[in-house]
Amino acid sequence: MDLGLRGKVAMVAAASQGLGKAVALGFAREGANLAICSRNRAALEAVAEEARAHGVDVLAIPADVTRAEDITAFVERTVAHFGGVDILVTNAGGPPAGTFQDFPDDAPWQAAFELTLLSAVRLIRGVLPSMRARGGGSIVVMTSSSIKVPIPNLILSNVFRAGVAALAKTLAEEFAPYNIRVNNVLPGRIATERLLYLDRVTAERLGVDPETVRQRVIATIPLGRYGDPEEFANAVVFLASERASYITGASLQVDGGYIKCIY
Ligand SMILES: NC(=O)c1ccc[n+]([C@@H]2O[C@H](COP(=O)([O-])OP(=O)(O)OC[C@H]3O[C@@H](n4cnc5c(N)ncnc54)[C@H](OP(=O)(O)O)[C@@H]3O)[C@@H](O)[C@H]2O)c1
Repeated sequence: MDLGLRGKVAMVAAASQGLGKAVALGFAREGANLAICSRNRAALEAVAEEARAHGVDVLAIPADVTRAEDITAFVERTVAHFGGVDILVTNAGGPPAGTFQDFPDDAPWQAAFELTLLSAVRLIRGVLPSMRARGGGSIVVMTSSSIKVPIPNLILSNVFRAGVAALAKTLAEEFAPYNIRVNNVLPGRIATERLLYLDRVTAERLGVDPETVRQRVIATIPLGRYGDPEEFANAVVFLASERASYITGASLQVDGGYIKCIY
């Protein structure tokens, strides 16, 4: 299937490793030009080099998505270089693990709000004028299986990702008149650094080793394994593509069957 992505301009946030990197490389394989950002300049440039091997133009812009001025620069430099934006994938690192009682002050709640929810708001606000001017576009937000099944010991992530999901669903209707689709992709357990971190934290909390945690989690996943970042990226790339032209407001789980509810 030709996804119709050749020559399109895709912005992928938080793309120096893990899911963001896999998504960026997925677009590059399909011939889309890229603007990618994250804080670590060297790691980001290494991803850009890998993507350029697919013959596409890649702009790597160091940016912290918690800083409004960095997001503005990310969007402005992308539009200046490519002439506009067709696709946006919102992403950021995850907030720290912990329970309600681990965060007795406002500061970590405010930081998680800025990292997870406000970054998506600002990225979308940034690309909207360009997408409207081009007569359409596609936005994919990355959330988590936790918007359907909250994950123990991850209260900050659980709360603000639900907000991102609500944002996407609301904007799918608000932006439909502009031919801008907005969809949400929910990773279950995909093998990245973040997942290793979460398994370590759970292992310490339960007093077991990380491999025991991994086996316990895998036992709850019908496909019996963690996902590969490329498997996750394939879903994002498809939803962003022309072949998903009648899909908006959807929440697509990429979780090996982990979420058991019907809707
Ligand atoms: N992996 C999973 O199974 C899974 C499941 C559910 C949800 N998620 C969520 O999906 C997101 C991506 O997950 P992942 O597994 O790819 O995580 P990861 O391996 O920890 O990668 C996080 C990425 O985000 C970037 N980043 C972090 N903070 C940033 C900031 N303030 N500004 C710009 N970039 C930032 C990092 O790059 P720099 O260090 O260069 O900035 C890195 O490229 C996370 O929010 C994670 O919690 C993951």
